[in-house]
Amino acid sequence: MDSGKIRVRLKKWYQKSKRPLPWRESKSPYFVWVSEVMLQQTQVNTVIPYYQRFIARFPDVRGLAEADLQDVLKIWEGLGYYARARNLHKAAKVVLELHGGQVPGTWDKFRYLPGVGDYIASAVLSIAFGRPYPVVDGNVKRVLARLTAMDLPVNQSSSYRNFHQAAVELLDHDDPGEFNQAVMELGALVCKPGKPDCQACPLQSCCLALDRNQVAMYPKTLQRPKTPLHHLAVAVILKDGKTLIVRRPEKGLLGGLWEFPTGRTGQDESPESACVRIVKEQANLKVSIQSKLTGIRHAYTHFKMKLDGPADYRWVGFDELNNYPFPKANHKFIPMLIAQHG
Ligand code: ADE
Ligand code: SF4
Repeated sequence: MDSGKIRVRLKKWYQKSKRPLPWRESKSPYFVWVSEVMLQQTQVNTVIPYYQRFIARFPDVRGLAEADLQDVLKIWEGLGYYARARNLHKAAKVVLELHGGQVPGTWDKFRYLPGVGDYIASAVLSIAFGRPYPVVDGNVKRVLARLTAMDLPVNQSSSYRNFHQAAVELLDHDDPGEFNQAVMELGALVCKPGKPDCQACPLQSCCLALDRNQVAMYPKTLQRPKTPLHHLAVAVILKDGKTLIVRRPEKGLLGGLWEFPTGRTGQDESPESACVRIVKEQANLKVSIQSKLTGIRHAYTHFKMKLDGPADYRWVGFDELNNYPFPKANHKFIPMLIAQHG
């Protein structure tokens, strides 16, 4: 791998090809942090409006630290992986208390804040503080796998140290933040997952996979079992123009969000009888079924259902539903409810 040549070409390409993304307008550590937390599990185009609303509402560490968790979750609503929002909020409180609201710029002080892992730490410390840590995310692993014809599967955790080592060797120490973003940008715009655009690639003369005419063979992946399909019953309960919503426990999947009483349907159990049972279990109410509202499909990437009882419940008018942060799946039928009852 001709690291020097790769760095020079990549840098030139990035300077003329980078997208004008809102978080690239400033190197404020707080802004970079917020953007990278959002970007870690969500696509750039989805993140843009969320990022803008988030920093408008919580413009600095103090503003975030002093906000209510519910308000933070409300802004995050629909972005998914809500632990990110809860951790960011918790971490802002720590930064305010321990560091006077200044995001710490060293590995030892930043890396161990709630929700900060190797990826976030490397991204924020390199981009906002110019420190020499390489980021190793999905885009970076794919680019490295192709450039070096690396045979290790990108989605196996034991491969991580090899990809990390390759990234350490390639890192541009003169400007680690620009370098890291350039590799991610190349992965997003040119060296794409499906069909890389090698004709437009600034690294085509340094790419081992291309040289061997084996681009389609990389990155190698390990086959994972298919995600299971779960059937959930959702109970919309009507009483005196109000509806019952329950709040999920703070810890776990979709923690702290509100939802209509929801649970798994048992084997051979109809959605209707599941609804009756779930409402009895979660709110100790006896209900009868009026009609079936709708059926939806919704994909969660990591599905682990363990229903502890709700942390809180409330009767609310349909016009109030939008004040509560709901999981994305609920939004597939809330507009329908408001149209019918609101
Ligand atoms: N994905 C995650 N962080 C990114 C960044 N800073 N630029 C482009 N894509 C990214
Ligand atoms: Fe990726 Fe093709 Fe560029 Fe190699 S030449 S880094 S495979 S886009």
